[in-house]
Amino acid sequence: MSVYIMDHPLIQHKLGIMRRKTTSTKEFRDLVSEVAMLICYEATRKLPLTEIEIETPIEKTTAREIEGKKLCIVPILRAGLHMADGILNLIPNAKVGHVGLYRNEKTLEPVEYFCKLPSDASEREIFIVDPMLATGGSAVAAVNLMKKRGVRKIHFLCLIAAPEGVERLTREHPDVDIFIGNLDERLNENGYIVPGLGDAGDRIYGTK
Ligand code: PRP
Ligand code: URA
Repeated sequence: MSVYIMDHPLIQHKLGIMRRKTTSTKEFRDLVSEVAMLICYEATRKLPLTEIEIETPIEKTTAREIEGKKLCIVPILRAGLHMADGILNLIPNAKVGHVGLYRNEKTLEPVEYFCKLPSDASEREIFIVDPMLATGGSAVAAVNLMKKRGVRKIHFLCLIAAPEGVERLTREHPDVDIFIGNLDERLNENGYIVPGLGDAGDRIYGTK
């Protein structure tokens, strides 16, 4: 297991715009997709390649393509959906599963309401995406759901994480690689990431 924290200037610049409370719903939503694409670029760096024979207009040669069964993106609803949209721009042939989870406002524990994965998910490399890793409860529950369905190669991608969430996810699922846009300071008494960006789902969909 490894934890990768992105220090790319483009990611930091875009996260800075997203954090501002004056950023509009449309701009926020577009930036979720853009930052997800940039994190995905790093998260797919180690995918195994295989050589294939091809023919260019000039001659036969070998090219490299991603080996084996392709990938599966699994957004945690709701906020992960726009991350998945961004990543599909880079990997249009990836399959998509969905996990529905929301946090109980009092206990902060995740409540599951939906899970639908491709039938061959266990043969694929899975990228769970959710903008926020706060207490880690939702991420741990999503990984539990994947593992129950036989999935073994799992990566977790988020835009912003709290140290508490990273600690919980690495403790409960040490085999999962975690890719983080920025590691923030802490959680507040309501379980929100500080300084964070507020409630990601509400900011993407203009609810609240
Ligand atoms: C947010 C976020 C994560 C979760 C993170 O979702 O998108 O799924 O909270 O918090 P945790 O690490 O403490 O579990 P939320 O529950 O607000 O649902 P929503 O996306 O439907 O708004
Ligand atoms: N979920 C969010 O959307 N934001 C936080 O800061 C914590 C959990």
